[in-house]
Amino acid sequence: MKMRTHRCGELTKAHVGQTVVLNGWVHGRRDHGTVMFIDLRDRQGITQVVFNAEQNPSAHQQAHALRSEYVISVRGVVARRPDGSANPDLVTGEIEVMVESAEILNDARTPPFLIEDEVDVTETLRLKYRYLDLRRPKMQRLLELRHAVTQQVRSFLNAQGFLEVETPMLTKSTPEGARDYLVPSRVNPGSFFALPQSPQVFKQILMVSGVDRYYQIARCFRDEDLRFDRQPEFTQIDLELSFVDREQVMRLTEEMVRRVFKETRGIPLPSPFPRLTYREVMGRYGTDKPDLRFEMPLEDLSAFAAETEFKVFREAVAKGGIVKALVVKNGAGTPRSRIDALGEIAKGWGAKGLAWVKITQDRQLDSVIAKFLVADRLLGALPGMGPGDLLLCVADKPRIAHDVLGRLRLHLAGELGLIDQHLWRPLWVTDFPLLDYDEGAKRYIAMHHPFTAPFDEDVPVLENDPLRVRAKAYDLVLNGNELGGGSIRIHRRDLQTRVFDLLGIGKDEASAKFGFLLEALEYGAPPHGGIALGLDRLVMLLGGADSIRDVIAFPKTQKAQDPMTEAPSPVTPEQLKELRIKLDRLE
Ligand code: AMO
Ligand code: AMP
Repeated sequence: MKMRTHRCGELTKAHVGQTVVLNGWVHGRRDHGTVMFIDLRDRQGITQVVFNAEQNPSAHQQAHALRSEYVISVRGVVARRPDGSANPDLVTGEIEVMVESAEILNDARTPPFLIEDEVDVTETLRLKYRYLDLRRPKMQRLLELRHAVTQQVRSFLNAQGFLEVETPMLTKSTPEGARDYLVPSRVNPGSFFALPQSPQVFKQILMVSGVDRYYQIARCFRDEDLRFDRQPEFTQIDLELSFVDREQVMRLTEEMVRRVFKETRGIPLPSPFPRLTYREVMGRYGTDKPDLRFEMPLEDLSAFAAETEFKVFREAVAKGGIVKALVVKNGAGTPRSRIDALGEIAKGWGAKGLAWVKITQDRQLDSVIAKFLVADRLLGALPGMGPGDLLLCVADKPRIAHDVLGRLRLHLAGELGLIDQHLWRPLWVTDFPLLDYDEGAKRYIAMHHPFTAPFDEDVPVLENDPLRVRAKAYDLVLNGNELGGGSIRIHRRDLQTRVFDLLGIGKDEASAKFGFLLEALEYGAPPHGGIALGLDRLVMLLGGADSIRDVIAFPKTQKAQDPMTEAPSPVTPEQLKELRIKLDRLE
């Protein structure tokens, strides 16, 4: 094989006249009779190579054998393309290589789909032939971007005095709230390792160990329902620091994220990132990960609603609920059928209904509930609303009203094209409640994880008014995606025990699950805190990918399977026997 002198994305006018060798894949072939054009592709790009029957009959003869994805080596002279045939979309678009000799290094079966940026095939097929899928230029760019991001992160953190430390994959259940992936231990029959949902406990132990500043590009495993931004196996940029407060962690993280955006894509992010409290974002956007690329805030109509004749509104408020609304500017022309469709969508999300009011040009109300409402009062309650606007209201418990309207806000933004895709709107969400109440299980659960520290001033009411206690936690949100989350941790044993008690994690359970951490806290644990950013989500956003599956080399399908390796798969009876595992009959 002739060793390449250049890559396929490299040759320009400056190389004209040079003899070069290129190695790569046949991307495409155009047969013009006496001249055959081959687009030769490697990771870096595509170069047009020319087999000319008059100049080189034997090479031209050989070219007839070439098919898509054959691997070849060609030697030839770089020539300027004839006038009018340059391709401005390619780096190499002004030149071509006139082939003197060629060698087929390997042939290839006809690929099940074209190796092009926009392929119209099922994801299962793409994942089954992932090696072909990854050959697509778009996927190669995403792999490069991911590499660039981790390199930037590493260089930034190294310069800040962080140590990169690996933590175990075979470990014990960690408390991030999902199901664990379990691994049976052959040498300890009946016992199981859990794959880590995050390195949370280990990074805290590393602080007790005096590591001071830790990071890891850490693989995490969570058995949960999958979505476009969730994989069972994903990667975090995981940090932990000693002797810090929230401010320092947030500032350092911001700086890192700004650096990554600037260095990898030339995108400037604001400094500092805006900060909103949990209360503010829930009230205004109905979600703790608001998309700030457009406004359309949730409006509070509760005071107005309490005094209307409309029973649904009045009673909702009387029962301790709220009435909230979205104003769709210039939406009054929306046909009734569209509004009804939105109502059905809202019901699917748990609303009891979606009341609507159109404001006519003469400031009257057009609505099936108009007779219950006083136009001037309604317009007075919503100064931002005027003639030609549409109002959509939900009356319910705050949790439902916020959730439904938060989703509706996003839905409408998509439908009405309100989102400018070139905008980047990061923000911090702070002052989360420490706890949430699980109505189903009738118990408190940690909003983040049970090691999150409460506000110092709220500690006294921990037992008496638990839901009022705020957490020293922060989430980083970008364009409606939760990019990361972290907190200052509890570093004292007594406080950790009180929080475990509140969560209904009794002494025995606590010592069985996290006894080692509790014990470590008794040996001089420094104050510490940290954060973890979802690397896959970060790269997805930076690269404009639709799903984190596009930025993970070998992801799982929606059903948590890998069509290429066919994992997970049954194991032999011998393996099960060795592990002392008996399978229940599979239905
Ligand atoms: P948390 O559970 O919020 O925090 O996770 C941190 C970030 O990881 C990303 N992420 C995911 N990405 C892809 N697929 C998933 N299934 C998935 N789950 C989470 C998100 C999320 O913001 N130990 C704490 C961090 C800390 O307190 O320091 C933790 O894991 O972007
Ligand atoms: P009804 O009185 O049930 O006929 O409802 C009249 C209008 O109010 C309909 O458009 C319903 O969709 C709407 N509606 C009913 N319940 C609610 C609610 N909880 N919040 C908002 N709108 C509602």
